[in-house]
Amino acid sequence: MTPLKEAALETPGQPVHIRVAHVSHVFDADTPRAHQVLTDINLDFAQRRIGIIGHNGSGKSTLIRMLDGLIKPSSGQISVAGHDTVTAAKEVRRNTGFIFTDPDHQIIMPTVREDVAFSLRRSGLAKPALAAKVEVALEQFQLTELADKPAHLLSGGQKQLLALAAVLITEPTLLLADEPTTLLDIRNTRLFASLIADLPQTIVMATHHLGLLTNFDRVVVFDEGQVVADGTPAEAISFYERLMDNTILTSGFRK
Ligand SMILES: Nc1ncnc2c1ncn2[C@@H]1O[C@H](COP(=O)(O)OP(=O)(O)OP(=O)(O)O)[C@@H](O)[C@H]1O
Ligand SMILES: [Mg+2]
Repeated sequence: MTPLKEAALETPGQPVHIRVAHVSHVFDADTPRAHQVLTDINLDFAQRRIGIIGHNGSGKSTLIRMLDGLIKPSSGQISVAGHDTVTAAKEVRRNTGFIFTDPDHQIIMPTVREDVAFSLRRSGLAKPALAAKVEVALEQFQLTELADKPAHLLSGGQKQLLALAAVLITEPTLLLADEPTTLLDIRNTRLFASLIADLPQTIVMATHHLGLLTNFDRVVVFDEGQVVADGTPAEAISFYERLMDNTILTSGFRK
């Protein structure tokens, strides 16, 4: 029988359970540049749409990169569907897609079509089925007209859509996204929002585009490496805005 925890990671549509227990992180530990960026983070996610917000440098990317083992916490533990992100990183990554802020990090192949197809290299699909799946993904992400274009010549926003297509075609159960709309214009930000709204995946997304989080289940606010608010999008965003006002007052900056 398949263990329950694995079934959860492999069943699209069910929220992937993510547990962050007493996680702290120090970059460049044991050097004069040692810098504590997360302090005793405790989170238990069982929702399908989770937003992470907070000032620049508050620790959002560090945490999100920890969720698929890209960064190992200095202390504490993280599990995704019961798999420890350090000791079982392979299992976690097999079912996780990561969208980086800078899409150049994830574009590998010369053309748009080849790059999307590259994601399926280990899928075991026969060539015609693979090609058909790629065409569907290109269409879904409005990339069909750009299919034969060199990927490095796309605009920043087009690259971000390509990165999203190349990740989602592998059908991960968990999608981690670190400011995935930074380069998108309003039209493509809306396209992105509507695309992710319909996805069966569990999504954890760090963003400064607060409007993207309106229909999320839960939003967590980070400040100086700590969770300072955790609730509905309306509650968390309102808290964050008040926090921002205070920061502006205490730092003496006004527009
Ligand atoms: N590889 C690293 N080595 C040393 N320090 C780092 C490293 N990565 C991040 N930091 C530091 O950790 C802190 C948190 O960074 P992080 O990227 O997690 O913030 P963030 O909330 O994602 O910010 P932003 O909104 O600007 O993306 C920052 O002070 C940053 O300078
Ligand atoms: Mg960041």
